[in-house]
Amino acid sequence: MLSQKIIDLLNKQLQKEFYSAYLYLGMSAWCSENGFAGSANWFMLQHEEEQTHALKVYRYLLEQGEHVELLGMKPVKTVYKSLLTCFEKSLAHEQSMTKSFNNLCDLAIKEKDHASYGFLQWFVNEQVEEEATVSDVIGKLKLVGDGNGIFMIDNQLALRSAEPKPA
Ligand code: FEO
Repeated sequence: MLSQKIIDLLNKQLQKEFYSAYLYLGMSAWCSENGFAGSANWFMLQHEEEQTHALKVYRYLLEQGEHVELLGMKPVKTVYKSLLTCFEKSLAHEQSMTKSFNNLCDLAIKEKDHASYGFLQWFVNEQVEEEATVSDVIGKLKLVGDGNGIFMIDNQLALRSAEPKPA
């Protein structure tokens, strides 16, 4: 049994993960419309990954016998200034997600909720990886500026393939 505070924050986190999926779908659309097919692929996979994150939270709430809430979603941007802006917004978003997981972990520790704390560790590690990956792309995009190198990076992003689905 989870505390009401933890249940509320987990339901908000569920909403945030679906929002992340929605946000990345918008970025993928912008990339497709602007000739960045590789980045469109990258963000589409990111979109799919975020849905699996949302469903992890969803399943955890149900496994614990708690109530799932599906909170509303605000509209997302589908217009960006540049490819670099897309990735910078993505990094800022991931940093806010990291903060959100840290808050959840703090609450789980405070409440001595070991099950939730253990569950959240997967996300804490995932956030480290996500921030590092996006920072790496930003670094490369800054290096090439507005030159043709941007298309080389886009081609590299086309190589990303879907991660195997968890059993
Ligand atoms: Fe599921 Fe990228 O946070």
